[in-house]
Amino acid sequence: MINKFFNVFSLNIFMKMGVFFVRKPVIAGNWKMFKTVSESLSFLDKIIPACKSLHKVEIIICPTFLSLAPMAEKAKDTNILLGAQNTHWEKEGAFTGEVSSYLISDLGINYAIIGHSERRGYFQETDEWVNNKIKAALNFNLNPIVCVGESLEERENGQTRKVVETQLAGGLNDIDLNQAGSIIFAYEPIWAIGTGRSATSSDAQEVISFIRRWLSESYNMETAQKVPILYGGSVKPDNIGSLLAEKDVDGVLIGGASLKEDSFIEMVQIANIS
Ligand code: 13P
Repeated sequence: MINKFFNVFSLNIFMKMGVFFVRKPVIAGNWKMFKTVSESLSFLDKIIPACKSLHKVEIIICPTFLSLAPMAEKAKDTNILLGAQNTHWEKEGAFTGEVSSYLISDLGINYAIIGHSERRGYFQETDEWVNNKIKAALNFNLNPIVCVGESLEERENGQTRKVVETQLAGGLNDIDLNQAGSIIFAYEPIWAIGTGRSATSSDAQEVISFIRRWLSESYNMETAQKVPILYGGSVKPDNIGSLLAEKDVDGVLIGGASLKEDSFIEMVQIANIS
């Protein structure tokens, strides 16, 4: 009892001092351009009861824009949170085909993925656009999930840190300390996405600890210790445990393996006890 009291007491002190933060693991599914509205809702029907008692993990699903509203309705009052996969930075206007943070947050959605490599690559999104999107999301009370990561060629040329640092500096330009603390970061090496070739857990730890150091130097240690930093790229039930065991890996952003109810539930269960 005394021991327990001492642990809680010292934990509080450390937290106040900004020395040590307990970061809840995050399991985020990025469904990309998959699942009809009815498939999305039936997925929720299966995972809501299975995840109901798993409170030691933050569960986020990012479906297509079409499924966001009906899923938000069904997930209300559950521990399943939702995110968009992209946003536009203007509040509203003549931007055919776009959806803004303002419109998304009106649905009670909590998160938005910003700067995914598929957006940067296929749609030529620049760090400046990423920066505008992050600012707009924060203004409309959406927590951005900001993705960074290098290509295979960049990794082989020893440019991983430089690429990640450039994406962080550009994306976070003029974003103040308080706002930076509401961001989730995701390190997603492009060569590991959808390839079945995950980064090793020590590769993930190495780059994620570099991101945390960069945040500490650019903001402060408290912010760097507080923000969750996820790994993404070929995460599956059989490698999630070793990734989450790394000191700085606070969760995962999952593509393919988040589309099947059983594997998604299994990964949430593993994270809940990690
Ligand atoms: P995979 O898990 O399919 O490799 O996709 C990762 C990803 O891009 C998540 O945003």
